[in-house]
Amino acid sequence: MKVSGKIIVVTGGGSGMGRELVLDLLSKGAKVIAVDIKEKSLKVTAELAGCKRDALRTEVVNIADKDAVFDFVSIAPSIFGAVDGIINNAGIIQPFIKFKDLPYEDIERVLNINLWGTLYMTKAFLPHLLSRPEAHIINISSMGGFLPVPGQTIYGASKAAVKLLTEGLNCELKNSNVNVTVVFPGAIHTQIMENSGLENQARALSKSELARLTTPQKAAGIIIDGMENNKYRVLIGRDSKFLDLFYRWSPKSAATFITKKMKRV
Ligand SMILES: NC(=O)c1ccc[n+]([C@@H]2O[C@H](COP(=O)([O-])OP(=O)(O)OC[C@H]3O[C@@H](n4cnc5c(N)ncnc54)[C@H](O)[C@@H]3O)[C@@H](O)[C@H]2O)c1
Repeated sequence: MKVSGKIIVVTGGGSGMGRELVLDLLSKGAKVIAVDIKEKSLKVTAELAGCKRDALRTEVVNIADKDAVFDFVSIAPSIFGAVDGIINNAGIIQPFIKFKDLPYEDIERVLNINLWGTLYMTKAFLPHLLSRPEAHIINISSMGGFLPVPGQTIYGASKAAVKLLTEGLNCELKNSNVNVTVVFPGAIHTQIMENSGLENQARALSKSELARLTTPQKAAGIIIDGMENNKYRVLIGRDSKFLDLFYRWSPKSAATFITKKMKRV
C-alpha cells in the first residue's frame, strides 16, 4: 500500500523508531495519528513535524489497557477520516535478569504491552481495516522473537508471540484487502533502555558499538518500504539478517553463539 494520501496510526510515536516512522510517513504525504503513553514525548514528535504538523494528530493511549484501546479505535476515524494502516511499534524490554529471578510484575508488564497491546490494537482495528479498499497492518517483533537472548527470555517470548500472531493473521487475510507484515529489527540506536525503566542498566556505548547499530531513521525507512511493497517479513540490520540465516541453519549453534556474546556484554 502506497502511503501517500493514506491515514496511518503509529503506536510508540513519541520516541525511537515510532517517532521516525511518524516523521517519514508525514514527509511521504500520509496523515498520521501518533499514539504513545507519554504525552511529553508526543509533544516533541509534534514539534519535529514542523510544517507537516497539520497532518499529525497525537493521542495519549496506554496500549496495554484494552478499554482505552477500544475507545481510541472508536474515535480514530473521526480524526482525519477512515484509517488505512496501523503500525504496532510500541514496546519495552525487560530488565536483564534471568527468568528464575524475574518478578511477575516485570513479566506481566512486558507481556501486557508487547503482546496484549499489539493484539488489542490489531483486533480492535481489524473490522475497520477490512472495510477499506486497501489496508495494511505492520507489527514490530524483534530478532529476539526468532532467536533466544539470555536475560531477555520474556521479551523474546512476547516478540515470538507477536511473530506468530502476525504470520497467522497474514495467512488468514490472504484473500482480503488487508496486507500484513512482520518486522524483525536487530539492534537499533534508540532510548528503549530508558523508556523501559532500565536507566540503571544502560551503559555508554563505545564508538565502534554505536557504529554497528542501525539508526531509527534508517529502520523507519525500511519499515515503510515493507508496507509500500507488501513484504511478508522485514529484517532490519546486518545483525538481524545474519542471525536469521544462522538460526535457520542451526538453532542450537545460533543460541550458543548469542549466549557467548551476551556474556561479554
Ligand atoms: N531498539 C532496539 O534495538 C529494538 C530491537 C528490536 C525490536 N525493537 C522493538 O521496536 C519497537 C520500538 O522500539 P524503540 O527502540 O523505538 O523504543 P523506544 O523506547 O525508543 O520507543 C518506544 C515507545 O513506545 C512507547 N510505549 C511504551 N509503552 C507503551 C504503552 N503501554 N502504550 C503506548 N506507548 C507505549 C514509549 O513511551 C516509547 O515512546 C519496540 O516494539 C521494540 O521492542 C527495538
